[in-house]
Amino acid sequence: MKNDIVNDIRRRVDIVDIIGERIPLIARGKNFFGVCPFHNDSNPSMCVSREKQIYTCFSCHATGNVYTFLENYEHWDFRETLKYLGDLVGIDVGYANYQKREGKFDKIYEAYRIALKYYQNNLASSVGREAKVYLNNRKIDDEVIKEFEIGLSLSNNDLTKLLEKKDYTLLELNKCGLSSDNRDIYHDRIMFPLYDINGKIVAFSGRIYKNNDQNKYLNTKETDVFKKGHMLYHYHIAREVARSEKCVIIMEGFMDVIRASTIGVHNTIALMGTALTQEQIQLIKRLSSNIILCLDGDDPGQAATLQAGELFLKEKIEVKVIVLPENDDPDSFILREGEERFRSLVENAIYFSNYKIRSLRRNTNLQNDKEKAFYIDKVLEETAEISDEIRVEIILKNLAKEFDIGYNTLEMRFREKKEKKEKPSSFITFTNQVIKEKTKYVKAVENLIYFMLTYDWVITETKGKHLIFPEEKYRITMNEIFYYYEKYGIITIADFYTYALDKQCVKEVLDEVLRENRESVVTAVLLEELYKAIRENSLNLEINRLKKKIEEELDPLEQARLAEQIRKLRIGD
Ligand code: CTP
Ligand code: MN
Repeated sequence: MKNDIVNDIRRRVDIVDIIGERIPLIARGKNFFGVCPFHNDSNPSMCVSREKQIYTCFSCHATGNVYTFLENYEHWDFRETLKYLGDLVGIDVGYANYQKREGKFDKIYEAYRIALKYYQNNLASSVGREAKVYLNNRKIDDEVIKEFEIGLSLSNNDLTKLLEKKDYTLLELNKCGLSSDNRDIYHDRIMFPLYDINGKIVAFSGRIYKNNDQNKYLNTKETDVFKKGHMLYHYHIAREVARSEKCVIIMEGFMDVIRASTIGVHNTIALMGTALTQEQIQLIKRLSSNIILCLDGDDPGQAATLQAGELFLKEKIEVKVIVLPENDDPDSFILREGEERFRSLVENAIYFSNYKIRSLRRNTNLQNDKEKAFYIDKVLEETAEISDEIRVEIILKNLAKEFDIGYNTLEMRFREKKEKKEKPSSFITFTNQVIKEKTKYVKAVENLIYFMLTYDWVITETKGKHLIFPEEKYRITMNEIFYYYEKYGIITIADFYTYALDKQCVKEVLDEVLRENRESVVTAVLLEELYKAIRENSLNLEINRLKKKIEEELDPLEQARLAEQIRKLRIGD
């Protein structure tokens, strides 16, 4: 890899800008702080250093430079990240020169590209006429077919034959989930490619259009690149749009998303008919803090809305909800009612807590006093969860008016609930990680490495000391630093971090080194102390080795010789 360009690009961007565009950062002293996106948190535990161009989370210990941040945050591979940053600073990264770090799944991706072309050709040709009619009846025109790369599988096994011709083995074919025992998996279905969050095709979903006795949708089995709970349909498109629209809409199925796009609403993602997972929540959180649930209007849809809303609440996010008529999903609603009506639903989405109150209300018989009292009590409880005081007041006022209860009475009851709620929440927010006390030696090595990466002269100084590191990871790291400095003549933490990315043990050491806030000034005295601690460690190891030898030694003369050796070591001879 051409380190020059990689470092050159890195030096031209400011990690504070790049991270700041994605998560809010607050300046504090020389550093910037934000809520770490790599673990569940609401405290600003991630520190971004403009000076060092690195980030460190003091809670989950995520650490790295601008490249690793983007790779982890955006789920890009190194090439994509490099290209993105290169474009940003106007450096052509000369794509072809870069080896992809991960090529392990290239063949499986390629199979899906081949399949896609094949399915698309079917739909476009005369064998696709019936399917075309079906799609057109559903108001899916050629433009949408093209945009969402919709295709068609046939009743034969031609895809398997095609892939075999392209040197796919039986095993590989089975792995892809498109073929099994020399037969195509998908027969006579309209094929929708499913994309991962970066827009790569990782599976297909096939819908029946003439055999009504089969399962409506057939999804590709889970593979190394396709995990249903980790994906969200349309995420790669919504990612861009949600940022500018400052809002993201969650729907149930990809047909809903496709329909919304026909009226120019693109900030949508689909759950693919599964319950929301933690992984998906983390992905959605990144798109926008303004999240709208727009699930089907039927009972399962409502149940899913309640469930999803609660999961987001656990993440301290109150989503909004669009309530569709009982028999609608977004697809049918938009088809029948049109763009304006749908947009007004989006604009008038209600807060989740109000939604909960509403659904509570529907299930209560308000003629019955007991049920009525229970309902009011529940509403107050839900309201106690809301932090926005204006919203609280509105709810209380409405409640007072509707049930003809004095506002003050309600308010008093509300305060009681609120206090009860707040009491047990004095839990400790420390991470549960057991922090192992580092030995003096380990601390010294880590500090030394840190200084070497901060001040060039410490490298030269250290090289002359011929220190001994019993641990391979430290030996390798030291050697890599010496090598890097010799080769490039200059070293910074952020650059060296990129260099070390594919050297697992070096990266581990660096992560440890960056994890802690370190002294930023090095003095000759301090450095001597570090060397001393490192030498003492190897000395002690050597002494222990000799002691053990004495124990095992039978010859008294030899024992005496060893003891002498130890004495000499101790006095530093
Ligand atoms: N789904 C699935 N398997 C099924 C049914 C549904 O995987 N047998 C998933 C699909 O990803 C689908 C989503 O669940 O997009 C929502 O299901 P549903 O609401 O039934 O689909 P619709 O979007 O309404 O599809 P259509 O309008 O074609 O009936
Ligand atoms: Mn539906």
